[in-house]
Order: sequence, then structure tokens, then C-alpha cells
Amino acid sequence: RKTAPLPDDIRAMKGGAPIVSLTAYTTPMAQMMDEHCDFVLVGDSVGMVLHGLPSTLGVTMEMMILHGQAVARGLQKAMLVIDMPFGSYEESPAQAFRNAARLMRETGAAAVKIEGGAHMAETIAFLSARGVPVMAHVGLTPQSINTLGGYKVQGRAEQGDALLAGAQAVADAGAFAVVLEKVPATLADRITETVDIPTIGIGASAGCDGQVLVVDDMLGLFTAFKPKFVKRYGTLGQDAEAAIAAYAAEVRDRRFPASEHTFGDAAPAKGATA
Ligand code: KIV
Ligand code: NA
Repeated sequence: RKTAPLPDDIRAMKGGAPIVSLTAYTTPMAQMMDEHCDFVLVGDSVGMVLHGLPSTLGVTMEMMILHGQAVARGLQKAMLVIDMPFGSYEESPAQAFRNAARLMRETGAAAVKIEGGAHMAETIAFLSARGVPVMAHVGLTPQSINTLGGYKVQGRAEQGDALLAGAQAVADAGAFAVVLEKVPATLADRITETVDIPTIGIGASAGCDGQVLVVDDMLGLFTAFKPKFVKRYGTLGQDAEAAIAAYAAEVRDRRFPASEHTFGDAAPAKGATA
């Protein structure tokens, strides 16, 4: 593939080869995943993993735009999706459109993601009809942590039907895909079989139409806590701290900089570097 897919192309991957996605917040990270991901999500998880906020509730439009612009500069082949932050879309479809348009205009994102099931269906229909493709997000919706009562598994036992109905409602409203976060695998499979848009799992099931993870979690860069659904594919946080400790020790021993890192007094010969 030479150019980025559009939301309709992602929708068309329903039931086919698994859709691969990760979050990104910076240009270099976006560049590293551009070849490997179908879409890249500028998640409001940026508030927790890069800004040290206790939850995603403090994330602003300005933060999303700044990180969205950085990620956009690193992508050519993967589609860019951006989260709408808490408070930027819940009030009314008109408020959601105003802020979604600003996110897309200022970052070049192809789509926005909003949290919520049946109660967001009207907004999803409003946005979709006006040129804003919407990825929905149901199950554990971290912006609602204060009403959900913590980061618990959602949709267990008799709650499962309501969660399925929510996923069906966002699909009927025109969402082109739906994230399922922290739900029982059997429920995720049931939703995947029932709705006609791709399900993107995080803490859901290998049977979903795609998967997403927070990149800092899967690289081992964010280590304050590790949800059960995170698999660490790297130890970059540990590696970085070891490198910083080695640097500090060498500076204190005057072993860094070595002669190859310093400059001579004579000008270099013509054509030579440095
Ligand atoms: O903000 C985020 O990183 C997300 C993904 C985990 C789906 O919403
Ligand atoms: Na998010």
C-alpha cells in the first residue's frame, strides 16, 4: 500500500485480515509504526503516558492538536485517527461537530474517536452526515471513570446485552469502526459477529477485527502500572534508565566525553567532515 487508507477502507476490512493499530503522540514514534499499522490513534492516553496526569480527564483540545500535528508529520501510509478529549463532544452534536472539525482541520486526521454507546448515537449520526468519520469506543471508557467506579471489566454477565446494544447503536448511527475496551472475550466475539463494522479490541479478544494498544505500554516505556491486557514487547523504559545511569556515572568519572567526542584546535582538512 502506498497511501493511507480512508475510514471506508478500514470498514471494508471487517471480517478479513486483522486491522493493526497503535497509539502515537510524537513524530518519531509515528514514523516507526507507519509501515506496520493500518491506522494510528492519537489517544487521549497521551495525558497519562506523556504528561503525568492521573487520568484522561485533564486532556485539552490544545494538547490533542499539538500531538496530532506531530504524529501527522510522521505518517504517510497509515490512517490518522484522533481522540476527542473529555468535554469536547458530550454536550451536543453541534459542539461535537465544531471540535471535531477543528481537530481534523488543524491536524489532518481522517477521523475522530469518541467514547460512548447508545447515548452518543445521535452525535455519531450528526458527525458522519457532515464529513466527520467516527470511530466509536465502548466497554471501559476511561473518560467516564468517575461514573463507572474504576477501571473495571465492563459487560460481564447480565450487562453484556446492554453493551452489545450500545455497539449495535453506534454501528447503526454510522460509526465506521468501534473500539471494545476491557470486556469479556466471549462478549467481544459476540459483538464482532453481530455488528457489521470492524471491532478493534483492547483487553477484548483475538477474534476482534483488529487490535490496538497504547504504544508506551507495549514498549515498556510507561511502567507506572500495567493493565492485564497489555503485553510488553520491549523494555524501553528499563533500557533508557540504564543508559541514563551509565551516562551519569561516566560524567562523574570524567570518562565522558572521550577524545572522539571533542574537537581539535586545528581546522579540519578541506573535504573532511567535522
Ligand atoms: O487513548 C487511547 O489510547 C485509547 C486507546 C487505548 C483505544 O483510546
Ligand atoms: Na482514548
